[in-house]
Amino acid sequence: MTTQSQAGSDNRGGAGTDTLTVTDNRTGQTYELDITDGTVRAMDLRRMKVSDEDFGLMTYDPAFTNTASCRSAITYIDGDNGVLEYRGYPIEQLCQESTYLEVAYLLVFGQLPTETELDQWVHDITVHTFVHENIKDFMNGFRHDAHPMGMLLGSVGALSTFYPEANRIKDAQNREIQTIRLIAKMPTLAAFAFRHAMGQPYVYPDNDLSYPGNFLSMMYKMTELRYEPDPRLERALDVLFILHADHEQNCSTNAVRAVGSSQVDPYSAVAAGVAALYGPLHGGANEAVLRMLRRIGSKQNIPDFLQGVKDGNERLMGFGHRVYKNYDPRARIIRKHIDDVFEVRGKSPLLEIATELEKRAMDDDYFVSRKLYPNVDYYSGLIYEALGLPVSMFPVMFAIPRTSGWIAQWLEMVVDSEQRIARPRQIYTGAREQDYVPVDRR
Ligand code: CMC
Repeated sequence: MTTQSQAGSDNRGGAGTDTLTVTDNRTGQTYELDITDGTVRAMDLRRMKVSDEDFGLMTYDPAFTNTASCRSAITYIDGDNGVLEYRGYPIEQLCQESTYLEVAYLLVFGQLPTETELDQWVHDITVHTFVHENIKDFMNGFRHDAHPMGMLLGSVGALSTFYPEANRIKDAQNREIQTIRLIAKMPTLAAFAFRHAMGQPYVYPDNDLSYPGNFLSMMYKMTELRYEPDPRLERALDVLFILHADHEQNCSTNAVRAVGSSQVDPYSAVAAGVAALYGPLHGGANEAVLRMLRRIGSKQNIPDFLQGVKDGNERLMGFGHRVYKNYDPRARIIRKHIDDVFEVRGKSPLLEIATELEKRAMDDDYFVSRKLYPNVDYYSGLIYEALGLPVSMFPVMFAIPRTSGWIAQWLEMVVDSEQRIARPRQIYTGAREQDYVPVDRR
């Protein structure tokens, strides 16, 4: 709530300590705004008017750079200190001790499961990995060279037509079953999209395998009766899934919440998240890292490359972050698993370049003074490449685990009484009250 006083009135002593006193110099009016959790309510500004007809003051924040759009208890980031926690648990511990499915449970339900709850959850996800046979026909309808992310985007949205009851979003039980289906079917859709791109037959899920093991099977199984995933690859993939599961209000999560706020079904809302992740500024940076490393070509070329970056000719891809002003904790964890993957798949010559490039950048005042450290994308592309994935699959690999974060955020939004349909305001800059001129007189 705000209170209002005349200009010149002395609010010192009268104003609460958790308030902001603002004087509108257009009118001389002084207002006191409540500060809660380090924020003021944008709607409180609307009382600041120059006349009774005036709409009232708004905030202008085109990229939401300083606007909290929700209250959330899911993911905590402290960018200055390189901290990432899901429901309060440090990402390092989760990657060390947990599995992706347990982390998905944590994100969705807010607490770690008991053994019985975990068994039930893993069982529920596992038995929902199959997709309707029509999805296969549907996938076959895409062009032979269709981008797998475009296929994923289309097919996850299409799931809403297979489960029309999903639009009963007020029904908690109904929300839970769609949550299970989404987390369970995403790897199947992703693997089908990959096999389509490769011109290979689709592989059905193997419900005797773990979540990442089954994904590897659906991706790479050929004529063998049973695909046996290498445990080192299985674990590395599971860790990558944990690392990408959620990252609070990023572009795609915001898309899921904004679209979901219209009360559409969760498949359509998650399709919006996939669409946002498709963009190069969000899901595409690891591809850019790989291209950069290939272009550098050898360690000798690193000094020239870094000079070019410092001269402003280009950016060191995979470095820097809007939120992290310290080493991205996810990059550190990925780096540890690279060796396991290369042990199985053979070493990539690009790793040596990446390691040396990181070392030199970290010794260089340009990067140190700007707090530019490796981010999650610096090393993830190298692992995906070692797994035999084309770059077009990189955003798909991101979308699979992010589904649990998207759906957890969607579930939180659906029951948040403060959330209404997302509908920003605008500053209108166009013409007004023009008289229509028929086409033959223009
Ligand atoms: N290489 C060289 N200089 C850089 C870089 C970079 N990667 N990133 C930022 N800078 C410089 C920038 O030129 C500026 O310098 P100055 O103050 O002299 O003008 C300063 O650092 C601040 O940069 P900014 O553009 O204001 O920072 P931002 O927060 O707007 O950008 C970023 C963040 C991630 C877009 C940017 O760091 C970047 O383009 N990085 C490379 C692309 C990349 O790796 N993206 C993946 C991000 S992680 C994805 C995820 O978390 O999902």
